[in-house]
Amino acid sequence: MTEEKFIPKPYSKAVEKGNFTWSSPSNIALVKYWGKKERQIPENPSISFTLNNCKTITKLTFSKKQNHSGFSFEVFLDDEKKDDFKPKIETFFNRVEQYLPFLKDFHFKIETSNTFPHSSGIASSASGMSALALCLMSVEKELVESDVTSSAVEMSDEFFIQKASFLARLGSGSACRSLEGDLVVWGKHDEITGSSDLFGVKYPFEVHENFKNYQDTILLVDKGEKQVSSTVGHNLMHGHPFAQQRFNQANQNLSNLISILKEGDLDAFIALVESEALTLHAMMMTSMPYFILMKPNTLEIINKIWTFRKNTGSKVCFTLDAGANVHVLFPEKEKDGVLKFIKNELVAYCQNGHYISDRIGFGSKLL
Ligand code: PMV
Repeated sequence: MTEEKFIPKPYSKAVEKGNFTWSSPSNIALVKYWGKKERQIPENPSISFTLNNCKTITKLTFSKKQNHSGFSFEVFLDDEKKDDFKPKIETFFNRVEQYLPFLKDFHFKIETSNTFPHSSGIASSASGMSALALCLMSVEKELVESDVTSSAVEMSDEFFIQKASFLARLGSGSACRSLEGDLVVWGKHDEITGSSDLFGVKYPFEVHENFKNYQDTILLVDKGEKQVSSTVGHNLMHGHPFAQQRFNQANQNLSNLISILKEGDLDAFIALVESEALTLHAMMMTSMPYFILMKPNTLEIINKIWTFRKNTGSKVCFTLDAGANVHVLFPEKEKDGVLKFIKNELVAYCQNGHYISDRIGFGSKLL
């Protein structure tokens, strides 16, 4: 499959103006994506749980403009104009213009808000870029679909989601895993039917009851701006001494996860997921320049989780993204006990005691 598939034929319908609103969630990777080739092609396949409560809601209002010169758009976060968001969106528009040739025909107003605090240190790029990509796909769908009177052209739901994921990937790699749920794979893997480097696909195999409605409580250890952007981090995998071993390991971990998910093997799941999180950070610590994104409280929390697990036999575990916050993962049936443990023992390590209770979700929604 190539990118060509996403270049549209000339649009059949004239559309003057309109608006669409989409909500799209964040996601948390179990096997991590870290390292990419040109055009946001991942060096290794990854898989994530889609979240339910942490999401972005974006309204895109569009109106035809007279000239075709340059992109014309304005961005608002929580009703406040955000000119500092514009360069990222301009870069995104440039990357996707060949796939969305209408971009210069309209003026766009992008109004966005997150259900989680912007300064929480939770990356809003996955939810934000996927919500924007979906709004743009709704515009394209309107331009493509002919009136019922003429020869009806319909965009299939499958193509819509696939192209939206393809576009979201060009905005922020992991954003392509936010459109569906509850498990999404991105990156070609020999054993996973339909997997692609170009977009995320729903995990196609059997998943044991143990992993249904899995819980994720996000402990906000450090709400500051990231010290190292993920773009810089991914680039440091070029020429990294352990890069190839890491990419092989991620492939192997994803293979191993197939039977773990099928059999409901929680111990093997814990070992794989925690090792992935620590390996991600080990890659950062062993790059040149090297950096540490964990904070002392990140380690305090990890140690508390290990002690709790040893003392109680709980199947709680942690994962990390490219920051100091800790995602605490646990089966639904342990909810009461683990939430009590979090309140009694872990909240003290969170900045201002802040944390977010979330769980697995099923992806984006047109509002
Ligand atoms: O989507 P990006 O470029 O911000 O990269 C995200 C990378 C990690 O969150 C660290 C891992 C992942 O697979 O989501």
